[in-house]
Amino acid sequence: MREELKKIETEALAEINSAGDKTSLEALRIKYLGRKGIVTDLFKKMALLSAAEKPEAGVLINAIKNTITASLDGKLGAASQAEEAKDRIDVTLPGVAGAPGKIHPITQTVNEICSVFVSLGFKIVEGPEIETEHYNFEALNIPLEHPSRDAFDTFYLKSTEKYLLRSHTSPVQARFMEKNKPPFSIIVPGRVYRPDATDASHSFMFHQIEGLVVGDSIKFSDLKGVLEIFAKQLFGKSTRMRFRPSFFPFTEPSAEVDISCILCGGQGSGTKGHSRCSLCGGKGWIEILGSGMVNPKVFKNVGYDPEKVTGFAFGMGVERIAILKYGISDIRLFFENDVRFLRQF
Ligand code: PHE
Repeated sequence: MREELKKIETEALAEINSAGDKTSLEALRIKYLGRKGIVTDLFKKMALLSAAEKPEAGVLINAIKNTITASLDGKLGAASQAEEAKDRIDVTLPGVAGAPGKIHPITQTVNEICSVFVSLGFKIVEGPEIETEHYNFEALNIPLEHPSRDAFDTFYLKSTEKYLLRSHTSPVQARFMEKNKPPFSIIVPGRVYRPDATDASHSFMFHQIEGLVVGDSIKFSDLKGVLEIFAKQLFGKSTRMRFRPSFFPFTEPSAEVDISCILCGGQGSGTKGHSRCSLCGGKGWIEILGSGMVNPKVFKNVGYDPEKVTGFAFGMGVERIAILKYGISDIRLFFENDVRFLRQF
């Protein structure tokens, strides 16, 4: 019997030794010390022994039980320590730095332009990119068959021929006026579309910001004052501005707005032996937007009385402003999603 007991003990200790985790140790406890376990069974078998044998057997079996218990407890303690250590976080390790995202230069420029006008009391309004011919053209006094429609040619949606992608943000002028009463000052940022062949200065999609101010005595001088503040805020205090007569069907009179060249300061002369400035081509001025007094026909189209209200409107291309501001050579860079370019802003 002694030998049999010794064998059980040796086996048990070997098994405990090779058990790696808490679960297998728990299983061994049940196997040996559980209600139907091997050691428990030995105690039960003692009933079959003679009275002379019982005391010695009792002592031996008890010793085995204690050895196995001690071994199990020791191993369990070690296993739970190891598991805890696995979950512990070393707060002294350096952190994993995520690459911070940046706001796209076009969005930055939109935000910058809008905030200048918001500080002047303008409200930001948006409109749909899918438009009807009515709002993109007719409401703005651009009649079908009129040559000026060519300048605002766009993509038509195949399904109906009635819908198109807006070619400028001006349709939002008409949409807003139909739903609101003057006086108001609004600014309208958004994407516009034109079927231009893509090159360094053309994209079939770009961004515009439209401005519209309507009230009972809005004058051309108000337009001049607002745009001058805008030009100086965006391009610096020394920036000068000029109007050049132009034509838009929805404004009358209409004017193109130029600012003094931000590269040569309006001198027109180039640097390092170049006779002409590379940005303005020697003219000293660069065009930044179109503008004018709202055409009375547009007021009529939206149900306003042109005898009672006046207003001005302007529209600028955001990419063009960003290109000038940051000295960028190619409009396509904005849309190629190359982070090496985008990270610089
Ligand atoms: N919508 C014109 C364009 O896209 C710009 C403009 C807006 C001109 C408002 C005058 C008034 O070219």
